[in-house]
This record gives sequence, C-alpha cells and structure tokens, in this order.
Amino acid sequence: MSVSDNYRRITEKEAERLAPMYAPSWKDPSIPKKQRSIVSKELIAAKNGHWIAPYRVYVDLVGKAAEKIGDCFRVLDVGCASGYYVEVLGMKTWWKELRATYTGVDYSTHMIEWAKEFYPNEDFYVAEGTELPFADNHFDLSIDGCCLLHVVGWRKQLAEISRTAKSYVMLHRLPVTKDNGGIRHFIKDAYEIPCIEIHFNAEEIANVMMSLGFSLDTELLLSDHGEYESRSLLFRKIGG
Ligand SMILES: C[S@@+](CC[C@H](N)C(=O)[O-])C[C@H]1O[C@@H](n2cnc3c(N)ncnc32)[C@H](O)[C@@H]1O
Repeated sequence: MSVSDNYRRITEKEAERLAPMYAPSWKDPSIPKKQRSIVSKELIAAKNGHWIAPYRVYVDLVGKAAEKIGDCFRVLDVGCASGYYVEVLGMKTWWKELRATYTGVDYSTHMIEWAKEFYPNEDFYVAEGTELPFADNHFDLSIDGCCLLHVVGWRKQLAEISRTAKSYVMLHRLPVTKDNGGIRHFIKDAYEIPCIEIHFNAEEIANVMMSLGFSLDTELLLSDHGEYESRSLLFRKIGG
C-alpha cells in the first residue's frame, strides 16, 4: 500500500463541487492504524538518530519560535492525527526545559482516540480546522500539520489558525507549485481512501498570511516532487 496514490487533476470549480463528498475522507476509521504502522517505524528510527525530513524540519521551525518565546511555550497542532509530533518534540531536551505544552486537534474522532491512548498527558480535541475551540492568541505558535492541502475552504482555516496564534504560524508540509505556478487541485487516494489535495501558489499564501497580519520568517524545503515542492513555512506576527 502506498500512502499517496493515483493523482487525478481536477479544476477548482470541480473541487468546490466535490468538497462535501471528499471533506470527511480522513475520518475513515481504517486510516489511523495504517498510518500508525508507518509512523511507529519512523519514531523508532528517529530515536536511533535517523530523522526523516518532516520530523527534522518540524523540530527546527518549532525550535526557532521557541527560542524567541522562551518559558511556557504553547503550541497548537491542527491535523495532529494520532499525536506523534509531540513524541518527536519530546526527543529534544529544550522542549522539556521550556516546560512547553502541546495541544493537538484533528477532525477525526478515531485519530484523537489513538492520540489520547498514546499520549495521555497531552491535550487533544476533535474539531474542524475551520472552527477551532480556542480564544484569540491562545497559543504562541499555531501549526497547520499537513492539513490545509485537504481543505477546499483553506482560506478560512488559515484565518482560524492565525486567530489562535499570538506570535507564530507554521504551515508544515505545504505542497507549493514550482516556478510560481497557479493553485492546482487533485483527487488522490490517501491510505486507499479518495480525498482532495491542493498544491498552492507560494505568493498567494504569503499574501493571505500578510492580510492576516503575518510575514514569512523562515522557509524550509522538505522534498522535490517535480511539479511541486513540499515546504514548511514559519510566519511571524507583524509587530508581535
Ligand atoms: C496528511 S495527515 C497529516 C498528519 C500529521 N500532521 C503529519 O504531518 O504527518 C492530515 C491530518 O489532518 C486531518 N484533517 C483533515 N481535514 C481536517 C479538517 N478539516 N480539520 C481538522 N483536521 C483535519 C486528518 O484527519 C489527518 O489526521
């Protein structure tokens, strides 16, 4: 089984029409077990010093924000799945020294059940990324964890994530079209379940973030996929 398979390009209009059908795809109860069987191997490898790029980049960018914030650093992770990024952060001594706190959100009740079982001391909530149950500026850093690409209403999700962030927003594993190509929409199979995937235009994302009061601080490349790249972007609140 391949994690991502069978990409079919669709138009933006088709994506909007198909969104109600495909938006719940990741809630499928079959996904957490399949995903976790891959993740547990990656976590063991990381503990033995072999870090995959997404873990390394996540920790580097969270660490960058943490350096500026300091003690009692509060992090929100939207699209947290079974919560494994908190285990990745816990591999770094600075995470514990800062007495940092992690809150994970996912719209899949199955994912959150798994997360609570694996990490009973952390905070996890079932919620839509477009409707977060937190006050404005509640977190120092709010992360979209490779979730935005599946949300046709991504502008609303970006606004919501930015609203909860006092200082930083991170867009982790964002697919960005190369050569400043326009936004592209696809149907693909994720863990054998069809869902929508969006490849973004970097300038458009920067403009939307600017309109929300955030400017780009750091951008890291994770992988090159020919027509698009997977990048992680850290934005800082302007004047924050
Ligand atoms: C590609 S996985 C990423 C998991 C993990 N953050 C990572 O980077 O490996 C996308 C996650 O986002 C969740 N998700 C998808 N749409 C969502 C939505 N509208 N609101 C909240 N979570 C969503 C899925 O259930 C899934 O756990």
